[in-house]
Amino acid sequence: MNAITPFVAVDVQSWSLFFGTRRILHQITLQIPAKQVTALIGPSGCGKSTLLRSFNRMHEINAEAHYEGKIYIEQKDIFQWEVTTLRRQVGMIFQKPVPFPKSIFDNIAYGLKINGCPPSEIKGRVEEALQKSYLFNEVKDKLHEPATRLSGGQQQRLCIARTIALQPRIILMDEPCSALDPISTAKIEELIGELAQQYTIVLVTHNMQQAIRIADYTAFMYLGELIEANNTAELFQNPQQELTRNYVQGNFG
Ligand SMILES: Nc1ncnc2c1ncn2[C@@H]1O[C@H](COP(=O)(O)OP(=O)(O)OP(=O)(O)O)[C@@H](O)[C@H]1O
Ligand SMILES: [Mg+2]
Repeated sequence: MNAITPFVAVDVQSWSLFFGTRRILHQITLQIPAKQVTALIGPSGCGKSTLLRSFNRMHEINAEAHYEGKIYIEQKDIFQWEVTTLRRQVGMIFQKPVPFPKSIFDNIAYGLKINGCPPSEIKGRVEEALQKSYLFNEVKDKLHEPATRLSGGQQQRLCIARTIALQPRIILMDEPCSALDPISTAKIEELIGELAQQYTIVLVTHNMQQAIRIADYTAFMYLGELIEANNTAELFQNPQQELTRNYVQGNFG
């Protein structure tokens, strides 16, 4: 086994995932650096979401899913984590923001309460999470209004606030901007850059320009395999594999 340095947040070792008899991911080995933005790119259906969802054991609800290989989060096998603790440490943001049908404040307070945050600290923690997700100034006068009244971009920042309120180590984002307009996208991209100072971010994106703009490290997948991973500039400017070169030059996908 490779030596695991403290700077690797997610260490994927020869990970294969099957749905029934169909192998979706083929022996993926990838080290995701801590406190950086790592982009997962590749054509539709190549397994980006499936890999991302492996990291916090989201496939567990699917009785068809089974695995080979190992994934270590902060040096601990994901199956040795207690699953709710793992999911608190490894938060997830989806393509379409899905706020709870509650007020803006309660969207964040709810998770804090069920995770045992003392009532006296809730208000401060909600405010801090809203500040960190660049939303506070836009919502400070309507914290008790329904979250569903927010714009799509604001809802996405609220979902990020809800996740960071639980003080995760890693934030997984599956095409978090694909339902957003360019201005909301720019805000989320800026926010992702800021969050990477404190958290490890793994971002699935279809948008190669987005990977170039915000990812430090990029992994290219094709048909369930990891073809190449490198510093983003290197991967795009000097790909080592022909498949990667064709993809980043826009020849397919
Ligand atoms: N629950 C499931 N059961 C069976 N097959 C699945 C399931 N989820 C995904 N797949 C299959 O796994 C493969 C990888 O899908 P995945 O969603 O990970 O791709 P992706 O790279 O995220 O694609 P996209 O860019 O379109 O989101 C696809 O062939 C898909 O049909
Ligand atoms: Mg996907």
